[in-house]
Amino acid sequence: MEILLYPDPKLRVPGEDVKKITNEFLAKTAEMFRLMYEARGLGLAATQVGWPVRAFVLNLAAEPPTDQNGGQETICINPRIVGESGRCNEEEGCLSFPGVRGNVVRSDKVKLEYYDEKGRSTVIEESGLPAIAIQHEMDHLDGRLFISRMTLASKLKVASKLKELEAQFAGEV
Ligand code: CO
Repeated sequence: MEILLYPDPKLRVPGEDVKKITNEFLAKTAEMFRLMYEARGLGLAATQVGWPVRAFVLNLAAEPPTDQNGGQETICINPRIVGESGRCNEEEGCLSFPGVRGNVVRSDKVKLEYYDEKGRSTVIEESGLPAIAIQHEMDHLDGRLFISRMTLASKLKVASKLKELEAQFAGEV
């Protein structure tokens, strides 16, 4: 398993609902956490590792949880945003876009319904950074990438870096 990089077409493939939480499923999410920490990220969607299912992992500490860092590992399975409000405009990055950061306008508060790794139906309400991360990962599950939501100014700023990634993917560099 590895994190796919833009413009890999697999990143645009939407995830399918998870039917059953198996040991294999849990082993794959554990591997996703490992890859996410290695890349110092705080969220990773299954579609980013070429696994087209509706699940993402989150840990705002961006490193394995300890007593000190306050980190918490969350696995969101078949998640749905059931409420959102407010507006924010914050800079985001994405593990599938090394070196690319840009501003995205999103809801400031979201209510998310999902199944956890034990299959328990869960509802959380978040605002600020966790709310942004949730919306970013939800987009991945629909095959949607953050560059399509960037403000025009950010799109212009990252255009040359995207060209670089496209050239690398095509094997031209
Ligand atoms: Co991302």
